[in-house]
Amino acid sequence: MKKVGVAILGLGVVGGGTYKMLTEHRELYQKTQGIDLVVENVLERNRERALSLGVPENKIAANIAEICSNPDVDIVVEVMGGVEPAKSFVLSALNAGKSVVTSNKELFCKYSHELEKAARKNNCGLFYEATCVGGVPVIRALLDNLQGNNVLSIMGIINGTTNYILTKMTDDGASYAEVLKEAQRLGYAEANPTADVEGYDATYKLSILSSLAFHTKIPYTKIHREGITQITPADIQYGKQLGYVLKLLAIGKNSEDGIEVRVHPTYIKNTHPLASVKDSYNAVYITGDCVEDVMLYGRGAGAMPTASAVVGDIIYCATHPSFRYSTFKNTEEADPATKFVDNFKSAYYIRLDAHDKAGVLAKVSSIFSRHNISVAQMIQEDEGETEGHVPLVFITHQTKEKSVMKAVDDINATSDIAEVVSVIRVVS
Ligand code: HSE
Repeated sequence: MKKVGVAILGLGVVGGGTYKMLTEHRELYQKTQGIDLVVENVLERNRERALSLGVPENKIAANIAEICSNPDVDIVVEVMGGVEPAKSFVLSALNAGKSVVTSNKELFCKYSHELEKAARKNNCGLFYEATCVGGVPVIRALLDNLQGNNVLSIMGIINGTTNYILTKMTDDGASYAEVLKEAQRLGYAEANPTADVEGYDATYKLSILSSLAFHTKIPYTKIHREGITQITPADIQYGKQLGYVLKLLAIGKNSEDGIEVRVHPTYIKNTHPLASVKDSYNAVYITGDCVEDVMLYGRGAGAMPTASAVVGDIIYCATHPSFRYSTFKNTEEADPATKFVDNFKSAYYIRLDAHDKAGVLAKVSSIFSRHNISVAQMIQEDEGETEGHVPLVFITHQTKEKSVMKAVDDINATSDIAEVVSVIRVVS
């Protein structure tokens, strides 16, 4: 039986899960895949952690050089996270002729051009299913199963932390700060939650997914990004009244106008399949010109779901005789020929704190009309939080982003009429 040696860099949550899966399922893979996957080395600073997982002492490497020079190691699994030293370690492994499997979205998003160059040069495989949406096999779906399609759009709930927070805010009516604290106590959110709640994590993943979907490099810097820190229970409740659920959505679209890529809080109709994706679950909704709509749903994080993606890549790498690379020019920057749409079209939720006096609604309507904004739904409450003020909530028809921003400026300039409290995009 073919023996395939694996080295794991980092025995944190995902590394620990990967070690467990490889060792506990070793016989399964012998039977089903005809290969013997053996963990030859681990690289872990915390020896106690490695020993407690059952790693034999002689398999704990002293440094990356020891792994790179070990002829029994065929595949190096990088599950350390962060850019350095992960990047140097991955490049060393590739330059030593080892194929690499990584779960590191930040590294892959920012440096896949360098990593892929080294992989091609050394005729090695470079696999990254676990970088996006944990155990949900979306990368392979885009790379293989959906290749025959022209992918028109990709829309996803691809960050579990923010989905957990927004679900709790929706179900319990709690504030963002309260739910974040609870999520940190339960270990769902990091002590420093910035990468998740400000949308960076989702942006890295969308950069990887949309590059694959649209066959052109989409650097994360091209993605419009907004997080969830400004979301209030009031907005969530008004959305509910109007039949919407609020999610942090990652959206990529490819049309004749160009490519638009954005991550921001978004209302979706409560009947949309993504509306039922709750708590820390993730889902990606892909529309192809032939397949039409496909939704992949599951655990986007966690030790064993992410290990499932890592081990799937290890098996794929071990059982395929040759490797494939990007279908597009994998450069650091976007291809100058790729057109990006900044002034995209969307429906909008606009909440105003309006003065409760005659003519206010007419003045707001006239500003909307000036910017060619048509209202689809509206709520006017009897009373607001401040005396003499009332909340006015609008959902617009499809409108250009820049028109809405100009209307917001115009409304705010007329402070005796109303102030804009929130603007949230809507997928109708
Ligand atoms: N922090 C991520 C999330 C998990 O909350 O979805 C790993 O990508």
